[in-house]
Amino acid sequence: MPVLQVFSMVLLGIALVYSTEICQETDYTNIKCGAPGKDGLPGTPGKNGLNGRGPTGPAGPPGLDGRPGTKGEQGPQGVKGEGGDIGASVLEALKLQLGLLDGRVVKMQSNLVSLRKAVSAFALSKGVKIVGDKIYVSNGTQAVYGVGKVTCNTAGGQLASPQNNDENQAVLAIRTQYGVSPFLGINDIVIEGKFTYPNGEAIIYTNWSPNEPNKDGAENCVEMFDTGKWNDKSCGEKRLIICEF
Ligand code: GLC
Ligand code: CA
Repeated sequence: MPVLQVFSMVLLGIALVYSTEICQETDYTNIKCGAPGKDGLPGTPGKNGLNGRGPTGPAGPPGLDGRPGTKGEQGPQGVKGEGGDIGASVLEALKLQLGLLDGRVVKMQSNLVSLRKAVSAFALSKGVKIVGDKIYVSNGTQAVYGVGKVTCNTAGGQLASPQNNDENQAVLAIRTQYGVSPFLGINDIVIEGKFTYPNGEAIIYTNWSPNEPNKDGAENCVEMFDTGKWNDKSCGEKRLIICEF
């Protein structure tokens, strides 16, 4: 190394040491150091910082409707309103009708009592029997089944059709009075073997004589023996006509 260079480096080192000592001990508001140094090289990049929080984003769209809530309890009963004009007039009309009906019922009851007395007195005579709700009547006429049926229907009744033992006994009592077997309304004219009342309903009570009914087809009507027992008999025969009401 040339001598000049070595000398220069020594001078530079002295200058550096000197300036450093001066600046370290000097008030920086009144710097009297040497000229400022040149800018240093750029520093190495800094490390990544921790994640920070960004600014709040815009508001999202409204959510979907929620499910319906549970049914609330029934509220208290409201105050009763005043009756309308139409309601009041209908009520008055009904009251009037009720009064009229009441009068009619009283009159009907009176008529029924009188009628029962008359029938009871009539029942003491021949050919009339009252049993339960039924009244059996005969004037002693004898006829074939068809004629007897029309006779009773025309009078507003039907041929005697006993539905229990008491009724059968009442019919028997009239039979005994005339001494003639009556036709009953019971028959199997429509369907052989299926005995019905005049209205077509199946019979609910029977009092057949032993081995009766015994004539399929030939005997579709029913007569009553003097024992009260029943026998199927030809509808063309003439028998006592007893009507029931
Ligand atoms: C007569 C009658 C018949 C009856 C029979 C009884 O034949 O016509 O209906 O069943 O006597 O024995
Ligand atoms: Ca018979």
